[in-house]
Amino acid sequence: MNVLINEARIEKRVNELAKEINSDYEGEELVLLGVLKGSVVFLVDLAKKLKIDVSFEFVDIEFDEENNGKVSKDLKSVVEGKNVLIVEDIIDTGKTITFLKQHLENLEPKSLEIATLLAKPSRKIEELNVKYIGFGIHDQFVLGYGMDYKQLYRNLPYVGSIEEF
Ligand code: IMP
Ligand code: MG
Repeated sequence: MNVLINEARIEKRVNELAKEINSDYEGEELVLLGVLKGSVVFLVDLAKKLKIDVSFEFVDIEFDEENNGKVSKDLKSVVEGKNVLIVEDIIDTGKTITFLKQHLENLEPKSLEIATLLAKPSRKIEELNVKYIGFGIHDQFVLGYGMDYKQLYRNLPYVGSIEEF
């Protein structure tokens, strides 16, 4: 395993994203909607740098064999009429975010944007209009800073990469 993005670079980038979010939502309230479980570390670090009023919500998304998505929480009351920022660890194929975005749009938020720490190369990123991207990375498997390999390594303070998994 090698360190792909060290702690200092992550901290610097999170600060930059927080600055943008603070200015974009000045005077507004914001729901940080974390996608479990990978976004938790990023969400907390980002939230600590925000000066606007924020609340935390979390969703878990599951796909069945036919790729039908399911959200394991009723979000209507936390989303309707609110500014919602989906917080993700990484966008790979874009399947998760595409499904979640569609689901949330139906619940009529005041605004809906996406923040992801990492993005792998994918056409979807453009289609999805991801407003806040920490780092674009090459197609590889990463772990740490919330992301897991077999549910482990989420606690690493940096993003690591493994070639073989
Ligand atoms: P997508 O639906 O293909 O965009 O995949 C998104 C989800 O897959 C992310 O939220 C992660 O939980 C997981 N994922 C994708 N790539 C990686 C990786 O390299 N390491 C760890 N988790 C990943
Ligand atoms: Mg995730």
